[in-house]
Amino acid sequence: MNATPELRFDGRVAVVTGAGRGLGRAHALLLASRGAKVVVNDFGGSKEGVGSDTGPANEVVQEIIDAGGEAVADTNSVASEEGCQALVETAVREFGRIDIVVNNAGISRWATFPEADAENLEITLDVHLRGTWNTTRAAWPHFAEQGYGRVITTASTGMLGLPNNLAYATAKGALIGFTRSLAVAAKPQGILVNCIAPNSVTRPSETTGKGSIVAQNQMDEARAALMQTDRVSPMVAFLAHESCPVNGEILVAGANRFGRWFLGFTEGWLAEGDAVPTVEDVAAHWEQINDLDGFYVPSGLQDWSARFMSQLADMGTSK
Ligand code: NAI
Repeated sequence: MNATPELRFDGRVAVVTGAGRGLGRAHALLLASRGAKVVVNDFGGSKEGVGSDTGPANEVVQEIIDAGGEAVADTNSVASEEGCQALVETAVREFGRIDIVVNNAGISRWATFPEADAENLEITLDVHLRGTWNTTRAAWPHFAEQGYGRVITTASTGMLGLPNNLAYATAKGALIGFTRSLAVAAKPQGILVNCIAPNSVTRPSETTGKGSIVAQNQMDEARAALMQTDRVSPMVAFLAHESCPVNGEILVAGANRFGRWFLGFTEGWLAEGDAVPTVEDVAAHWEQINDLDGFYVPSGLQDWSARFMSQLADMGTSK
């Protein structure tokens, strides 16, 4: 039995980028089914980000309307700052406000060094990082004015080590720094910024095969059914809801599992005395430096630096 009352989005306006297909489509459908008015953004290109097509965004809008919801299409590319501005203006013009930005649009250009060149990095950062930056920034004045907003960014567990998609992993890593830092500025203004790391079978994983979970695990049909996009969206919707209890966190969702991805520190080794530690000291204490026993997860930079400073204070008083 689920005792939680239905979480709804009546009166809320959501922008979901890259919502014409895959995960973004599932996020948009779920938010709309719970009463949100949704701007379905998608420029409709290939998974490498080439070409454009107004079809995907318009089809998802039609699906939402057919189900009794409210939505409009926006076919701007989030790879340009103007596109992001126009996307947010669409929400305000059509629905009078904006409450939620789900930064989901993404592309993949598989390559590692030396093939992964500056252009590969640039286009990848344009969509994932600058798209998130510019869309959120365009929505920010509206959030600040109304004292309310919800921002979701989309990272990837690929950041843990995806050598053949180097620019992608790089962009996703940058989004974690963006999420955590913007969250600090957001909270006093009634805004929350969190990150989702999804796992689902979508267009990229269906067709590339390279490093995809599907290919690696030789997944059977029953397992593949668990990897559908609608197994991720409940977490996104929860982070987008007014009752969201967290800020600056990374949540993981896929195949019916929902969890937290955190950044932790080992206690490490503290050199005693006044002598400058040597390289050999580091080598000699390598095990202790890396020992996970007693590791800690700071809630933020202030929490971490308070701990760091207390270590300095202890040293000062122990003299
Ligand atoms: P997808 O390719 O099925 O959907 C992405 C959508 O974004 C497409 O409809 C595409 O047209 C749109 N898009 C791409 N560039 C755009 C731009 N410049 N402006 C507007 N729309 C644009 O991919 P999927 O899997 O649904 O990916 C969604 C997000 O989730 C991406 O950020 C991806 O990196 C991330 N992700 C997905 C994982 C998975 O297991 N499917 C794993 C980790 C992260």
